[in-house]
Amino acid sequence: MTMDPEPFRERAAAALLAARDRTRLLTTSVEDPDLVAQHSPLMSPLVWDLAHIGNQEEQWLLRAVGGRDPLRPDIDSLYDAFEHPRAERPSLPLLDPAEARGYVAEVRGRVLDVLERTALHGGPLHSAGFAFGMIAQHEQQHDETMLITHQLRKGPPVLSAPEPPPAPDGPLPAEVLVPGGPFLMGTSTEPWALDNERPAHERTVPPFFLDTTPVSNAAYQRFLDDGGYEDPRWWAPEGWAQVCEHRLRAPLFWRREGRQWLRRRFGLTEPVPPNEPVLHVSWYEADAYARWAGRRLPTEAEWEKAARHDPDSGRVRRYPWGDADPTPQRANLGQRHLRPAPVGSYPEGASPLGVRQLIGDVWEWTASDFLPYPGFAAFPYREYSEVFFGGPYKVLRGGSFGVDPVACRGTFRNWDLPVRRQIFSGFRTARDADPAAGGDA
Ligand code: AVJ
Ligand code: FE
Repeated sequence: MTMDPEPFRERAAAALLAARDRTRLLTTSVEDPDLVAQHSPLMSPLVWDLAHIGNQEEQWLLRAVGGRDPLRPDIDSLYDAFEHPRAERPSLPLLDPAEARGYVAEVRGRVLDVLERTALHGGPLHSAGFAFGMIAQHEQQHDETMLITHQLRKGPPVLSAPEPPPAPDGPLPAEVLVPGGPFLMGTSTEPWALDNERPAHERTVPPFFLDTTPVSNAAYQRFLDDGGYEDPRWWAPEGWAQVCEHRLRAPLFWRREGRQWLRRRFGLTEPVPPNEPVLHVSWYEADAYARWAGRRLPTEAEWEKAARHDPDSGRVRRYPWGDADPTPQRANLGQRHLRPAPVGSYPEGASPLGVRQLIGDVWEWTASDFLPYPGFAAFPYREYSEVFFGGPYKVLRGGSFGVDPVACRGTFRNWDLPVRRQIFSGFRTARDADPAAGGDA
């Protein structure tokens, strides 16, 4: 059975266009000197991300798929993330903003020509437009990275967006029981899934309880108020070392004024909203909170089972709500809002068991290290995933308000160092259930 490739041609063109609109917004909303400046040693100058987006597109879509002659082979090494760590990127002879804009536009013009002429079958890069989908996801991933750079940047707001809808009223149960038993983790059929999401394979998880919503700022503040950041009992040793070395007292961007906690968000300072999922916490902070609460972080397999498994049919779906694509009624994605929505939002995005906000709002730290699935094969390049396996990285799931739907699904895996907190990270907690309670699905 082969898929009709034609819908993928349109989908690829639309995904590339949407990514470029967002890239343009993120790189025209500040003046050129701000594009060249480094706003944090953790981040690249925005102009590096911009030309890197174009260079990856040139390498994969013009050269590898299109078979075209290289346009700017001289800059490949400047924009190779492995050759130059972020901290040293500002000192490289980078394309200036006008040159970078000209370069990405030139690449894109030729890519649209390649897309029109290329058969979308006959090899894994071409099949269902995979390489085009991969490059659209790559651009959107860097758009999220650039949004993080905007958050780290000092100065008055330059981005704006409407507020998310208020959470529906009515109490929700604090947690749901996810029955034990096998489910199919990962995917072998999602056309634009990346190598680390493949292949689909059976996993069995014992029954467990999972929070209905991400942990809120109010809940997290109880941990602060209870002296959580002064008590090594709750912390993994490396996490406690980070608390001591950097005198951590609260999530990144929080500041205390009198008895109130304020936070900085894209250039605004505002009271920390109690009902919103906590944001900008490290894995160590999430882990410490969970231990303080008498709970733990869910494993990656538990998270995916809660997000994809339908206990009624015994099948897995693409998203918590089913197989249909995300909509604004189902999830907070794509920088539509510049913040997570209140906990309990998006009842239309709930899983069959009633778990909310698994997709969108905040990336959720899991207990798991970033490892390959059984049968993993690096594709199309080892540096996307394989070189990170077995490293010090923890897996995050579900996507944030800053990730586009094209780069987010029930199987999507993100990873980062456990100390990182400039990312749009939050978490929810879990606990073991009595094995007798879950039955066998
Ligand atoms: C999957 C988000 C960890 O940003 O480092 C971008 C994505 N890979 N360019 C990252 C990525 C190559 C990656 N993450
Ligand atoms: Fe990249």
